[in-house]
Amino acid sequence: MTADKDPTELITWKGGTLEAPLPPVLVSCGTMDAPNVLTVAWTGIVNTDPPMTYISVRPERFSFSILRDTGEFVINLPTEELARAVDFCGVRSGRNTDKIAACGLSLLPGETVRTPLVAESPVHLECTITQELPLGSHHMFLARINAVRVDKRYIDESGRLCMEKCRLISYIHGAYHATGRPLGKFGFSVQKKKKRPRS
Ligand SMILES: Cc1cc2nc3c(=O)[nH]c(=O)nc-3n(C[C@H](O)[C@H](O)[C@H](O)COP(=O)(O)O)c2cc1C
Repeated sequence: MTADKDPTELITWKGGTLEAPLPPVLVSCGTMDAPNVLTVAWTGIVNTDPPMTYISVRPERFSFSILRDTGEFVINLPTEELARAVDFCGVRSGRNTDKIAACGLSLLPGETVRTPLVAESPVHLECTITQELPLGSHHMFLARINAVRVDKRYIDESGRLCMEKCRLISYIHGAYHATGRPLGKFGFSVQKKKKRPRS
């Protein structure tokens, strides 16, 4: 198929980080006694079995040495209600601000990690760091997802997690967005249409 666009209609920029949408997750680190939360958009799933993720963090972040020292973190998925906290925890440092108190967040103990969870989030990934990769501006912490902790309110009678009800947010080109207009389920493009009974 020929494109209905020709290359002169594109402009070329130097390589950059323009991938979107991204989840602006609340990463908790430290312990119940000395916790901190920072916002991370450089995150994603990198393996299914074992389940693995990463967060890329600048060495100058207050959380950086905490992550290194404890070898653990928790990814707390952000909801619309948490948007302000997501932004605040991404522009203020735990070095001089108790972000958890300032945002009115509460903590729950981890089950497989000493790092606490942010209770207001509906889904938490408890992670143990397996590798640190210095990449340049950021160090990538590869991590195994030991456990997924889910708020029971979002589980239906059949045991399904109704994630669409969590009102999760995304981060697109410097702005937070609501999600939630479904366009089709996995595999919908190849699904056979159900025949309508003849009337
Ligand atoms: C939407 C958003 C995404 C961010 N993503 C990252 C990231 O992926 N890695 C990073 O090192 N900092 C990221 N930051 C910046 C840190 O969250 C910010 O510097 C924070 O103050 C660090 O907290 P700390 O000093 O308490 O560790 C992000 C900030 C925002 C607002």
